Amino acid sequence: MFLAFNPIDSIKLIIFDNMHLKLRFCSPFIALASMFALIQAPISSQAAGEKKLEVFSWWTSGGEAAALDALFNTFKKQNPGVEIINATVAGGGGSAAQPVLQTRLAGGNPPDTWQSHPGYEMFAKYVEPGYCEEITELYKTDGWDKAFPKGIVDIVTKDGKTYAVLAGVHRGNVLWYNKKLLEKNGITIGDKIGFDEFFAACDKLKKAGVAALGVGDSGIWASAQLFENTLLGVVGPQGWSDLFSGKMKWDDPQVKKAMGYFAKMQDYLNPDHAAMSWDQAIGALMEGKVAFSSMGDWAQGEFLKAKNQDYGWVSHPGTDGSFIVVADGFVLAKGAPHKEAALAWLKSIGSKEAQEAFNPLKGSIPARTDVDKSKFDAYHQWSMGSFAKDKLLPSCVHGVAAPPAFKQSLEDAVTAFIVDKNVDNFANALVQAAKESESQ
Ligand code: GAL
Repeated sequence: MFLAFNPIDSIKLIIFDNMHLKLRFCSPFIALASMFALIQAPISSQAAGEKKLEVFSWWTSGGEAAALDALFNTFKKQNPGVEIINATVAGGGGSAAQPVLQTRLAGGNPPDTWQSHPGYEMFAKYVEPGYCEEITELYKTDGWDKAFPKGIVDIVTKDGKTYAVLAGVHRGNVLWYNKKLLEKNGITIGDKIGFDEFFAACDKLKKAGVAALGVGDSGIWASAQLFENTLLGVVGPQGWSDLFSGKMKWDDPQVKKAMGYFAKMQDYLNPDHAAMSWDQAIGALMEGKVAFSSMGDWAQGEFLKAKNQDYGWVSHPGTDGSFIVVADGFVLAKGAPHKEAALAWLKSIGSKEAQEAFNPLKGSIPARTDVDKSKFDAYHQWSMGSFAKDKLLPSCVHGVAAPPAFKQSLEDAVTAFIVDKNVDNFANALVQAAKESESQ
């Protein structure tokens, strides 16, 4: 059906015959003399009035904005005199930003560069419709061919053309907790957790009047992510690859078991979850209003921004040994209004300096391998260790593993399931969505 990451040695996209996108690995770089000239040209050589750069993203939470600022500051140092237009649209996971971007692109009004996840999201929404320009040549400068692992370049490359620079790589399947609150309720968490232990802790907290699981699903993707993590916890890495390759069906008993767990989790949520954003849920965890939150490690950015020390983390129940990959890349717009500045921006994001400034604040690990690891905290050390040894699996909710239409159907099915808790309906909706994606 879709595509999956080869969990063995490096991140690679496995191609399936019936995939409508034909991504390729290791294709040769195509020399583009004209682009090379542009990359080499100092930004100061731009015509007056052109010294602007519009960067589009959804990084507006405390941690996200601080990390984005670190990228801007690095860029400004490297390219003095260029004015940055910070075009952000709030809404975690790009839930509100992506439709706005789509309208701009369709209307021929692109920002110079925008945030995108590699995999289906980037190729189906932006590359295939012709909204992006390749930046293959960029990877030949500054020793990038050595600094970025081949697997990382492969996931933003199609037919020998590379389209994005990755700022960092997030781990999606993390269960965060408030240490003091758990301690107060006599709950200790080891270095991994299973579903039985997790639900036992939730019961204990519920009896004590505490909302065990903090969710902020004013953007439904946050609940879809809770389901995604739970699904992996049940089907495991092999099941994950089988599901996204079409070998396992979406109404498989294992999938239904995960849906059952996801339904059970609804009994322990903060009652105001639908009115909260993901970062407000992390805020509630810090305030001791909820005990756990299952969220990608952009949450680490929130703890850091708040200078909070009272949190702990563990892999989402059942997912120890797996790393759900949510990578953040930036692309170059075709017809970018400020192309030179956009290329300089991409070059800057890929620099060691930017990767070392951005990732410690964002919660992600750098895409480059030559960074100074001592600049990273205990969480990052854990995450880097996990990335090196665990199975690397693509996120569906963050656009990597499946076509945008399937992701949308998943979110719709999650919305319906939270209300009706009907496992059969949920499973059938996904079976149907998978069929529709295959036939596209
Ligand atoms: C993800 C993105 C992260 C983080 C998160 C919440 O899609 O990759 O960088 O921003 O959404 O907004």
